Amino acid sequence: MTSIVKPLFSPVEQDLSTLTNNLKQLIGAQHPILYAAAEHLFGAGGKRIRPAIVFLVARATMRDQDITQRHRRLAEITEMIHTASLVHDDVVDEADSRRGIPTVHSNFGNKIAILAGDFLFAQSSWYLANLDNLEVVKLLSEVIKDFAEGEIRQGLNSFDTGFTLEAYLQKSYYKTASLVANSAKAAAILSDTSAALAQQMYNYGKHLGLAFQIVDDILDFTASAEVLGKPAGSDLASGNITAPALFAMEEKPYLTTLLDREFAEEDDLEQALALVKDSQGVVRSRELASHHSLLAREALVNLPGSESKEALMDLTEYVLSRLY
Ligand code: IPE
Ligand code: IPE
Ligand code: MG
Ligand code: MG
Repeated sequence: MTSIVKPLFSPVEQDLSTLTNNLKQLIGAQHPILYAAAEHLFGAGGKRIRPAIVFLVARATMRDQDITQRHRRLAEITEMIHTASLVHDDVVDEADSRRGIPTVHSNFGNKIAILAGDFLFAQSSWYLANLDNLEVVKLLSEVIKDFAEGEIRQGLNSFDTGFTLEAYLQKSYYKTASLVANSAKAAAILSDTSAALAQQMYNYGKHLGLAFQIVDDILDFTASAEVLGKPAGSDLASGNITAPALFAMEEKPYLTTLLDREFAEEDDLEQALALVKDSQGVVRSRELASHHSLLAREALVNLPGSESKEALMDLTEYVLSRLY
């Protein structure tokens, strides 16, 4: 997966390779098991989309000047928060694999995974405080709160067929888009841009993050576990009603019946998956993702032209291209 994204990130390729080396060191060796758990995930890598956005916004807003050590640290913090949230998310979702390898909890157990996630959140907060920029501290600490809020909302709405598209988008903002939005804004703030431009970078991240999550939710219905590097079809099975199922319910009342009885009878889940596939759910979700991808692109209008800006624009297409 990493290789597909590489050409897109060429203006910040060097930045990303330094980040990978730094991340492993930043975790420190406080405790061998926690270290092993964290190393495990950073070692497996990931697409590193979030730190790439931080670097690209940093470079696009610094123009002729080089980016600063603070920008670099912000990118590292961003990936650390993301990784921590994945470790916790995999416990909540009981997911066995991530990034093509077994999850932390399947290797070390739930207790260690929760502690390892907490450790990463705490470590990221410490580095965040050391940036000595109160505005940035506020933005990123809100992200950590939002992540928990998003996961709790998702848990509370499990098998809730009264769940609305608006509530779905809100939950997706908390769970996913908040990190992209606030870290992009923080990168602009560290470049001393105008407040207006920083807010536009927030809007870019917000809409890109929403498009990304919608696409991820579509892939859960359309892709194989092999391609995803994590189990497929598991959202609906666990009662997590995402965009494709929300749209499908409007067309297929029987899907609502199946969800209401929480797939209590044999073949209920298979029937529900077939109903979603047989509906306009995936197509309408793609349109929703395109809409947010376009809004992300529009948020870049006032950013001065540069190689990094081009990459940020290309990224709005890349998030959609994951579908084909
Ligand atoms: C996974 O994010 C979580 C979602 C928001 C869907 P990524 O797909 O960016 O995960 P990695 O970092 O590349 O593994
Ligand atoms: C990803 O959520 C977790 C975060 C956004 C923190 P999901 O549960 O929807 O995504 P995957 O499928 O585990 O990557
Ligand atoms: Mg999950
Ligand atoms: Mg989840």
